[in-house]
Amino acid sequence: MKVINVAIDGPAGAGKSTIAKMLAKKLNFVYIDTGAMYRAITYKALKLNINLGDESQYQFLDSTNIQLTEDDRVLIDGEDVTKEIRERDVTNHVSAVSSLKIVREKLVNLQREMAKKTNVIMDGRDIGSHVLTDAQVKIYLTASVDERAKRRYLELLQTKAKSEVDYDKLKEEINRRDYLDSNRELNPLKQAEDALLVDTSNYSIDEVINKLSEIILGRVNI
Ligand code: DC
Repeated sequence: MKVINVAIDGPAGAGKSTIAKMLAKKLNFVYIDTGAMYRAITYKALKLNINLGDESQYQFLDSTNIQLTEDDRVLIDGEDVTKEIRERDVTNHVSAVSSLKIVREKLVNLQREMAKKTNVIMDGRDIGSHVLTDAQVKIYLTASVDERAKRRYLELLQTKAKSEVDYDKLKEEINRRDYLDSNRELNPLKQAEDALLVDTSNYSIDEVINKLSEIILGRVNI
């Protein structure tokens, strides 16, 4: 039986992970968070204290093992880094690490292998345009910068005090990451020609999930 691949791309904070994860549960697909994979490599590179911009210092990739578990945890070489990879230090360096050819080659190969075996919903930046160009469904999920910063702000307020969270700074970081992800040389963030554009600015998560599952079920036989 042919496996079904759904690609969801879009900028930071558009709600991709939340939506892709819930959609995968609803449709009984495996969810693959490729951003988490780039974050895990960034975590390890920071821990090894290498010069992040120097490709020759990434030989450690050969012996690095990344696992995404069924309960959405992220392990690198067996270490659970689910929480650590969301921290600021990793977030602020992940664009630089993910722009390197050596890193992208390793992770893109891994992602393609994962998608061959089972029905997946894979989210990232270059899934529809590069990793899974044959995906049966491609979605480009976006939202305005203000809306994305607001969502991130509210999310952070759940675990931090108001005085620790700076909305303007969050917006600036989102703008910076959009710029770096869209302007890097290798497989930048872009909407694949055959991807459907979905702007989530004015919709709730449930509304987006219903819309996307309708689109997916309309395209493939499950
Ligand atoms: O989705 P995220 O914010 O967790 O992704 C973290 C970074 O990883 C993002 O800034 C760019 C990079 N990334 C990428 O280059 N290609 C992907 N397919 C997914 C993420």
